[in-house]
Amino acid sequence: MTPLISVNKLSKSFPGVRALHEVQFELAAGEVHALMGENGAGKSTLMKILAGVYSRDSGEILYDGQPVAFASPREAQAAGIGIIHQELQLMNHLTVAQNMFIGREPRGRLRLFLDEDKLNGLARAILERMHVHLDPRTVVGTLTVASQQMVEIAKALSFDSRVLIMDEPTSALNDAEIAELFRIIRQLKARGVGIIYISHKMDELKQISDRVTVLRDGEYVATVPTADTSVQAIIGMMVGRTLADISPWQGPAHKGEIALEVKHLTAGPLVRDVSFTLHKGEILGFAGLMGAGRTEVARAVFGADPIESGEIFVKGVKAPIRKPSDAVARSIGYLSEDRKRFGLATGMDVESNIVMSNLGKFLSLRLFLRRMQIRKTASNFINLLAIRTPSATQPVRLLSGGNQQKIVIAKWLERDCDVLFFDEPTRGIDVGAKSEIYKLLRALAEQGKAIVMISSELPEILRMSDRIVVMCEGRITGELSASEATQERIMHLATQREVLQTA
Ligand SMILES: Nc1ncnc2c1ncn2[C@@H]1O[C@H](COP(=O)(O)OP(=O)(O)OP(=O)(O)O)[C@@H](O)[C@H]1O
Ligand SMILES: [Mg+2]
Repeated sequence: MTPLISVNKLSKSFPGVRALHEVQFELAAGEVHALMGENGAGKSTLMKILAGVYSRDSGEILYDGQPVAFASPREAQAAGIGIIHQELQLMNHLTVAQNMFIGREPRGRLRLFLDEDKLNGLARAILERMHVHLDPRTVVGTLTVASQQMVEIAKALSFDSRVLIMDEPTSALNDAEIAELFRIIRQLKARGVGIIYISHKMDELKQISDRVTVLRDGEYVATVPTADTSVQAIIGMMVGRTLADISPWQGPAHKGEIALEVKHLTAGPLVRDVSFTLHKGEILGFAGLMGAGRTEVARAVFGADPIESGEIFVKGVKAPIRKPSDAVARSIGYLSEDRKRFGLATGMDVESNIVMSNLGKFLSLRLFLRRMQIRKTASNFINLLAIRTPSATQPVRLLSGGNQQKIVIAKWLERDCDVLFFDEPTRGIDVGAKSEIYKLLRALAEQGKAIVMISSELPEILRMSDRIVVMCEGRITGELSASEATQERIMHLATQREVLQTA
């Protein structure tokens, strides 16, 4: 049978970067084909070429056996190739429905006015088919990252594509939402749609994919049936070496003094009477479902959202924090989960982003020295976190998704805060770099930093935390020590809605 898509000897370079070199790839109808590789391996670039976003330098793409070259995403879409981009591309000021049907809105009888009711109806039908409870009239900018991701998926589904590319669709979804997405994928598969699936979550591979293709440094490594391969073998192909598994966190023997104490904090519907203490040298995990209020707690403590009531003590001293600069002045840092909106100046270059939150330190230096120091600092972090970039002066928006995330981490590490909130720090980060980041967080704790780690990946929370606080609907529903915590106990506390309502 002719494959749906067949890619041969495809190459693509950007200034200073060979993103793809003679890559091959094949997709059959009704197949879920996983595309794996480290951050910067070339996955998104390959997909963007298939979807008409980038043009190739050389090589061949056959679609249904016919050579094709799409000049624009619109052309690819019209031919039946849809893509869910890694970096969400929604218009924040438009509604869910408007985003889904942008550029092809149904018109009223005179074709002058938008038929909003019809638009909302169409959107609602797709959302309902996905079992997503979202009002099509909601303005997208007010949604969480998870809901925005769902809108992006709904939009791609609305095109009735024959090929659907999903570039890290689950990076911001919780387990229930992922299960829902997988159900949709299986439906599409049964209808003969070919799906290309990119993810850094290794456990998803086995659940959803039929075959796996691995890229490394822009080169094709292998294609294998998922059933015949182990996750370890795939990781080996991705990184070109075997990774040592990190042992579970033992934690410091003694608790250090209290670095941060939060008392009865209330701020909006998702932070209700939250109290916790954080010690020096400790990693405190914040677990809970998406939307439980973990990010909101971090934002409130950091001064990014207004506090209604409650108190914050930093090293035992009451600290009125009203804006982020108040928090930074008290050596509190917050690494946002939403790097596009809060974490990065994507138009600026790598080194400026890394030193940005700590400019004061550099401004005191003479110009020449300052340049040298900034360059040195940037190259330290580029090495430490293995950031894949042609140079320190590359604009951040041109880096791969995972490498952008590493820049956000570098930025806060450079700031050298005593208290650090890491909100989903390994989202979109490949397996190898993940274990580097785990090591780094541990090293920071050993140096006496106090760390809060918010993560939706339970294995990560379990492996890293000394203590785990679980939230549900804006409240802390329990606290577990590292030794008593299990996935089941966390999930139980994370879904305590009924208990709370009847109490
Ligand atoms: N528009 C661009 N201009 C310059 N370089 C680019 C551009 N897009 C991608 N690159 C570079 O090409 C390489 C491959 O990037 P790509 O985004 O395809 O990686 P990826 O495999 O999707 O990684 P990730 O897992 O981090 O998303 C990287 O080195 C990246 O910096
Ligand atoms: Mg990518």
